[in-house]
Amino acid sequence: MAWAGPCSEVPSRLPHAETLWFESQWINEAARAAAACAAVVRAAGRPRVLPEPEGRPGMVCIVDRSGRALVGLAAAWGLERRRPYRVALMARSLNPAMARAMAMASRARPGDLCCDPFCGSGTLLAERAMLGPCRLVGCDLDPAAVDATRRTLSGFVHTGGVQADVRPGDARDLAFVADAAADAVVANPPFGHRRGRASDNAVLYPAALREAARVLRPRGRLVVLTADRRHLRQALAACGPALRPRSEARVWLGGLEPTLGVYDRTEAPPP
Ligand SMILES: C[S@@+](CC[C@H](N)C(=O)[O-])C[C@H]1O[C@@H](n2cnc3c(N)ncnc32)[C@H](O)[C@@H]1O
Repeated sequence: MAWAGPCSEVPSRLPHAETLWFESQWINEAARAAAACAAVVRAAGRPRVLPEPEGRPGMVCIVDRSGRALVGLAAAWGLERRRPYRVALMARSLNPAMARAMAMASRARPGDLCCDPFCGSGTLLAERAMLGPCRLVGCDLDPAAVDATRRTLSGFVHTGGVQADVRPGDARDLAFVADAAADAVVANPPFGHRRGRASDNAVLYPAALREAARVLRPRGRLVVLTADRRHLRQALAACGPALRPRSEARVWLGGLEPTLGVYDRTEAPPP
């Protein structure tokens, strides 16, 4: 069953909605972002998006086959900054709606160990924390990003149920995570457009995916967002049978159309 309607009807119609607010002056943007999230949710195996007609302010929801709302988006100027954990917003911070959809695609379960090797300001880890108790590990080359993620996660850690270990580090060498220890790896590496260079990704992506495959337990899940499809494909090929594609979808994000890939860690030995 599917549903779409104005914001005023949402609470009564969608009692279980995971409602996400994001900053957008324009409903067109809201609809595109919702479509992006729909692709992510489809990637996770739970389809349906219901955009309102363009040009009208309102709510856009994504529901699963049983009618449960997974993600709701609203055009609402300035609300993104009110997301409670957004104390350390950086220019590179991921859209929280996309981060939430990625966290959901990682098949979050209570107590999971979730690793973000390119944590930036910590949006992905924060959205994972909002889904329930978990152990979070993250790193970033940039000490300012590590500091930002620690500040972002401090609220979750203090309220209990969430443990976090975030440190300066390189996604190519996650020495602080044991083999097969992680249930999920979520990654938003540099695309090589606005951050980093595509030529660097030729080296970075294979090494980072190899490490992701090493730290993931069999049947664990990797969720990657990148616009650098060429190097993502090459890196996946280098991992051989250790990572099996579950789904790949193009999503809309800030004028780019990155790919959101979801991969299952198989029983094959790490590459
Ligand atoms: C697109 S940003 C991630 C944004 C993050 N998801 C957020 O919401 O803030 C990519 C991050 O990767 C980091 N980075 C680049 N190369 C890295 C590497 N080899 N190891 C770890 N982090 C790296 C950058 O410093 C940057 O913070």
